[in-house]
Parts: sequence; structure tokens; C-alpha cells
Amino acid sequence: MDPRTNPYAPGAGSKPPALVGRDDQVESFGVLLERLENGFHEQSMIVTGLRGVGKTVLLDVFRETAESRRWATIEWEVEKNQPLGPRMAMHVRRALIQIAPKIRWGERMRQAASALKSFSLTFNPDGSVTAGLDADASPGIADSGSLGDDLTDLLVSLGHAAREHGVGVVFLIDEIQYLGTSDFEALIMALHKCARRSLPVTLVGAGLPQIPRLAGEAKSYSERLFRFPTIGALDPSTDARDAITIPASAQDVGYASDAVDFMVDYTGGYPYFLQEYGKVAWDESPASPITLADVTAILPLVEARLDESFFRVRAERTTETELKYLYAMAVLGPAPHSAAEVAGAMGKTSQQAGPIRSRLIDKGLLYAPNYGLAAFTVPQFDRFMKRAYSDFGNVTHQDTEKGQ
Ligand SMILES: Nc1ncnc2c1ncn2[C@@H]1O[C@H](COP(=O)(O)OP(=O)(O)OP(=O)(O)O)[C@@H](O)[C@H]1O
Ligand SMILES: [Mg+2]
Repeated sequence: MDPRTNPYAPGAGSKPPALVGRDDQVESFGVLLERLENGFHEQSMIVTGLRGVGKTVLLDVFRETAESRRWATIEWEVEKNQPLGPRMAMHVRRALIQIAPKIRWGERMRQAASALKSFSLTFNPDGSVTAGLDADASPGIADSGSLGDDLTDLLVSLGHAAREHGVGVVFLIDEIQYLGTSDFEALIMALHKCARRSLPVTLVGAGLPQIPRLAGEAKSYSERLFRFPTIGALDPSTDARDAITIPASAQDVGYASDAVDFMVDYTGGYPYFLQEYGKVAWDESPASPITLADVTAILPLVEARLDESFFRVRAERTTETELKYLYAMAVLGPAPHSAAEVAGAMGKTSQQAGPIRSRLIDKGLLYAPNYGLAAFTVPQFDRFMKRAYSDFGNVTHQDTEKGQ
């Protein structure tokens, strides 16, 4: 069919043609905003899930919701080893500007700008962040040099400023697992103070499944501050089918029911895979309705696309040794595996394999669902590893023989 009208949207953060199966999270977010607007306490949320399940898309929906309620919204995708201080200075500057144009600033806004000046002199000494705000640093506020304390001063003054103007501020932080522990700790501490003062400043995050543990390690009270809803594959009998059929039927294109069964089954209901499969099915099928024969015939093409667009980029971020670790895990199967099991499969001791495993967790390819276990963060990564690196079967064996 005509690729120019293809509705499907495979891609990182690409808005899906039909956002299905996320009503609960969208509803909770609306409740969160409304409660904060009314001065009530509410836990904010950090959405966790595997790669490609729709975390970034959901954050974007949250942003739209917040903007429609006149909240100031700050989006940030964390990159590894990016210090929090200078970033937060930039974000708070943007928040102040969104809350109100300078000409309408009241006392609290001016105080927040002064706190930002102090904070940025401490953590971003070139001073560029506060250019144009005409604020003087306020001695004793946000200038101690301790990130937790100073960020607390800064966000509390931002909260008062927002309240003065009858609005709220939401930080939408993606890939939050890449925040360093001390940065995460500082952020949690600052948000906790805002929550205790019932100020309309909140954080909604998204990241890989290890977040609740990281947050707990950073601050023990993080569980009282955040909920950690998990999102994953779409329900195979309802939502996953809708993700395929709704975008097509909007253009009067139908699917045979067994074709949809096949697509849902192959993709396991994972959103990214559904979008990719739908895209290829649309382009390659001669006419509506799209049949089982159509969708089975294109399977090799779908697989090649997924390898190219989704799996390979992740595998390429690894060294040869790390790849071998992933391969050994893949051969063991999709479930989580103990460090000892994987090391054994590689012919190594747990001690030898431990650093490889840690690096893979650090790179976001694995996560530890429980102590001593590791699982893939990328759904169906085991299938990919087995088809793309099948020659490792022999290599692993040679390594074993050499005792490496
Ligand atoms: N609820 C949904 N229904 C249908 N498709 C969806 C849904 N959510 C996301 N998608 C599709 O899934 C794909 C992945 O979405 P997104 O990039 O938000 O995932 P992610 O969890 O952020 O992945 P990553 O961890 O790799 O950043 C996109 O193509 C998007 O259109
Ligand atoms: Mg994402």
C-alpha cells in the first residue's frame, strides 16, 4: 500500500498513531498534577520498563497534559557522566522564564532568580546561566557548595515563585538511571523538601527497571516520594491488537484476524516491534485486508529492520568480551540468569566474569532484577544475539579450551 500514508511510527520516542494500554499512567499523572495544584501531597512517579516499551512517549504525553494545565515543563534526557549542578541551573532558568515574563515577576520570582544566581556561581561558575535575569546572588542561599542543600534551596525558592504565579513546575527526566548516585540523592532530597512544604514542584521520570533500587540506595525515603509503575508489553488480547488495527482502520484498511494474531504473537506485544511490523506490513501488502500470508511473507524483512533499527545499535556499544557475555546469556534463554550460571557457560569464574557483567549493567544492556541475577534490558535480545552472533558458539568453546 501507499508508503506515503503509512501511519505506523517505529522510532525512539516517536508518537504512536494510537497510544494504547497506558490509560492508568495517564490518569495517575492527571491526578498528581491536580492534587499538587490544590496543595495536597502526592507521590510522583518514575515509570520503569524495558527498552522500546514506550517510556519516552509516555513522558511526552505527560508533558502535553502538564502544558495544557499551564504547568511549566522541563524535559531532560540524562546522559551518563553529565553533572547535575550546571544542568539544573539551566533548567531552573527555563522554568522561571516559563512561569512568567520578567516584567510580571513578583517578590518570590526575584528571590528565586537570586537563588539561581548563587547556585550557578557555585556550580556553574562561568555565570552564563543567569545572564539577562538581572539578579544578585543571595548570600547564604544555595551557595554552601553541597549539592543536596543548595539544590534544595533552589527548588524550594522555585516552588514559592511558581505558587506566587498560581502555576506548577514539572521536571520530566528520561533515562534517569544514568544519574550518578550522589546526584540522584541530591535531587531526591530537594524534591522531598518541596513535597513537605506542599510546593508545586515535582519530578516525573522514566528509566530502566533498576531505578527503584538505585533510588532506594540514594535515599531510603525515596519510596515515600515516588511510585514506580512498570510498563511493558501490551496485552495480547486487546491493546496489542488495537495498536496494529486502529491506525489502519482510520484509513479504511483492515487486517485478517489471524494476521493480527501472528503479529502479536511474534512481537510479544512489545510496542516498538508492533510499530515496526505494522510499518512493513503496510508498505509491503498489496491491498486491504492485510492477510496472514502477507504478514508471514515479510517476516525476514521485519526481522532485518528490527536488527538494524533496534538491536544492532545496542550490540555495537559493547566490546568483543561483553558481546560474548551477552551471547552466553542468550543461549541460556530469555529469563534472568545468575552471574555464576553465565560465567560457567563462558568457562570463566564468577570473579573473572563479574566486571564484564558490571560494565554491561553500566551501559544499560543488562539490569539486576534481584540480587545476583541479570536480565536483558532489551526485549527479545536473546533471539537477536542468537541469530546475529551464532558464530560465537564456536568462539566461546575455544575460549573455554584456552581457559580464558
Ligand atoms: N502505548 C503505545 N502503543 C503503541 N505504540 C507505542 C506505545 N508506546 C510506545 N509506542 C511505540 O513504541 C516505540 C518505542 O517507544 P519509546 O521510544 O517511547 O520507548 P522507550 O521505552 O522510551 O524505549 P528506550 O528505552 O529504548 O528509550 C515507538 O515507536 C512508539 O511509537
Ligand atoms: Mg526512551
